[in-house]
Order: sequence, then structure tokens, then C-alpha cells
Amino acid sequence: MTTFDSAMRHAQSLDAQDPLASKRQEFSLPQGVIYLDGNSLGALPKSVASRMQQAITEEWGVGLIRSWNDAAWYPAPQRVGAQIAAMVGAKPHEVITCDSTTVNLFKVLCAAALAQPNRKTFICEEGNFPTDAYITESTAALYGKRILLAHQGNIEEVIAQAGGDLCAVALTHVHYKTGRMLDMARVTQLVQAQGGRMIWDLAHSAGVINVQLNAAKVDYAVGCGYKYLNGGPGAPAYVYVREDLHADLQQPLQGWHGHAVPFAFEQGYRPHATLDRLLVGTASQLSLIALEEALRVYAGLDMQAVRSKSKSLTQLFIELYDSHIAPFGLELASPRQASERGSQVSFTHAHGYPIMQALIARGVIGDFRAPDILRFGFAPLYVSHEDCVKAIQILQEILQSQSWQQDKYQARKAVT
Ligand SMILES: Cc1ncc(COP(=O)(O)O)c(C=O)c1O
Repeated sequence: MTTFDSAMRHAQSLDAQDPLASKRQEFSLPQGVIYLDGNSLGALPKSVASRMQQAITEEWGVGLIRSWNDAAWYPAPQRVGAQIAAMVGAKPHEVITCDSTTVNLFKVLCAAALAQPNRKTFICEEGNFPTDAYITESTAALYGKRILLAHQGNIEEVIAQAGGDLCAVALTHVHYKTGRMLDMARVTQLVQAQGGRMIWDLAHSAGVINVQLNAAKVDYAVGCGYKYLNGGPGAPAYVYVREDLHADLQQPLQGWHGHAVPFAFEQGYRPHATLDRLLVGTASQLSLIALEEALRVYAGLDMQAVRSKSKSLTQLFIELYDSHIAPFGLELASPRQASERGSQVSFTHAHGYPIMQALIARGVIGDFRAPDILRFGFAPLYVSHEDCVKAIQILQEILQSQSWQQDKYQARKAVT
């Protein structure tokens, strides 16, 4: 068993060689906190606070309504979409920022249903993040589709089972609980071989994985701005549609911002010629400004380097788990193979909730997902290898002393 001293020396040498190490200074992280929850809510990039101050006092306070033009508020959904496109291997005009992930998923499920009315099968994943399942279910009911449920072990068989009836498959690239990553290119190709459309939820992969939507010929994708993109709580989400699907893209949420000429105030709806037709109502402009500023931390970064560091952090965390934590009964729930893992490591334990609360009280912030998952997310731009060692050391102390058994850690809060 490695001692924490030698683990720390190893971690420090990895950090010394880390090409992304200086990025941490661009984030505002509280003293004494090891933040391993960027997969739930990203940390605050320092420049966002001053940018927001300016947006509020000058653009809103002084510019008033003029700022839609003068401060270029109006084209922000497209501009921020282009920033995200560069991170997920898409063309700038294939991504637009708007609404929530759930609402965007609804739009692209509808688009797939409307494009292929005679194909009656949707596939979604059992155990996926609930919103994906809920919205797929309600969209299926609207368009008379049936749902086939797949799980991570039998997706290929279920696609084959749907055969020529397959309309669309909606999957999450990196699983929210286990961090298991699916093979985007392979699954997309299998779906399209049956004539179906492929929708990926990138909530847990954009910003940490070198996602290549165009190279994998993905039809549609959605994702959120508040996790690894660091856009702030409830940040706007985004939606990607492959260029060749734009011309006949239809979705039922006809709002004025998706109209061909919004400021013509025509009575009848005519969809915009571009991806703008996915817009619905007025953008949440302040949130969009925060997201746009936050994304600057990624400007010019090689996503392959981000991915390499993500693998290195999660690998070290698993190695430290093996030597220091496994004897206490926590089971590893994430893949050991780095190529099958997102930027997350999860464990199961029957008392996962109070253990996580005790950890948070010691400054190591991860989260808990019922019934028994402790989740740790590794945002490569601000998490170091040293953080991994410190977090494991504190986790071991909590398990050894059983301090998690204290009453104060047992009561469930609304958000876990
Ligand atoms: C896979 C996945 N999809 C979607 C969401 C959230 O969707 P929304 O932003 O609409 O709340 C989450 C949130 O954690 C998620 O993990």
C-alpha cells in the first residue's frame, strides 16, 4: 500500500508536468475546498463576476433596451453556440444556445419524429438521467411512438431489434451515475444503418471529453451549460443539429424568436431558414452573458489535452481508492478502463448519503445520487492530482473514524 506521503509526491510530480495547471488560477475557488462536483455545477471563472457587473450596470442599467443591438445581445444564442461548437467537433452554425437540456431534447425528439413519421420506435436507456426518459416518453405519446428500453449492456441488440421501424435513439454519452462512456461513433453508425436518427445528451461529456459530433456523423445533440462549461446555476443549454438536417428541421414550439423575421411581427409562423428555428422565446440574456464569459477559459484549448488530464485524474483517484478506500466497503461503480470512463468516478455504499455529507463538511465536495451512489467529478481545468490525494485521505479518515454516523449527516436535504 502506498503511503499518503509517497502518493502526494507522485501527485505533485504529475501536477508539475500538467500543461493545464495554470488554468486553475482563472477560477474562484474557496480556500480549503476540494471541488469534485463540476459535473453538477461548474466552478466560477473569475472573470464572470466583473463581466456580469458590467452587463448589469452598463448594458442593462445604461444601455437599457438599446443593448439588444448595441451590446450585441440579440445574436448571443448563435455566438455562444459557435463557442460550444468548437468544443464538440461541430460547425459554428450547427449549435445554438437556448432553453434547458430537457426542452432542447424535446425539440430534437420531435424533429426526428416529424422527419420519420412512419417509423414508430424510439429507443432510450433504462437508468438514464430521468429527464431524458420522461421527455422521451411524453414525446412518444404525442407522436404515437413506442419506446424500447435498452441498458448499457444491450444497446446494440435493441437497435437491431427495432430494425426498419427505428425512428430515433436518445442516449447520454457519459452516464450521470456511473460515468460510463458509450462509443459515440459506433452507436451512431448502428442507429443510422437501421435508418434511425441519433440524439446524444452531452451533459456529462462536453468540456471534458474530446467530443467529435461531425466526425461521428451525429444527427442531433443537446447539453447543458452549468456543468463542465461553468456557465452558472441554471445556465442556458445548447442544441446541435447536423447541417444537412437544417433545411427540413421542424419542431412544434413555434415562438417568435424562431420565426423567419421576428421583428416583422407577422401573424402566421414561418420558421427561420437556419438553426434559429429552434429558438422559442426571449433568451435569458444575463445567464447567456455569464456562460459566454465562462467559456473563454476554454478558448484555444486542445480538448485532447483536457481529456488526457481527465483520464489521469480519474486513474489516480481509482488507484488511491484501491489502496486506501476499498477495504471500507465502498464499491467502484465506474469503469476501470479509462477509455470507457468520462471525467467522473462513482462508488456505491449503503450509507453513501451521510458519508458524502461528512466529506462535504470536511471541504471535499462531491454529491450523492439515490439510492447509493457517491459521485466525484474531475474538471481538468481546476482540479489537481494533489486534490485527488487530499480527498482520498479525508475520505479514509471519515471511514476509519466512522464520523459519518453522526446525526447531523443523516437528514436528507432537498438537493443531494
Ligand atoms: C444526462 C443529463 N441530462 C439532462 C440533465 C438536466 O437537464 P436540465 O438542464 O433540463 O435540467 C442532467 C442534469 O444533471 C443530466 O445529468
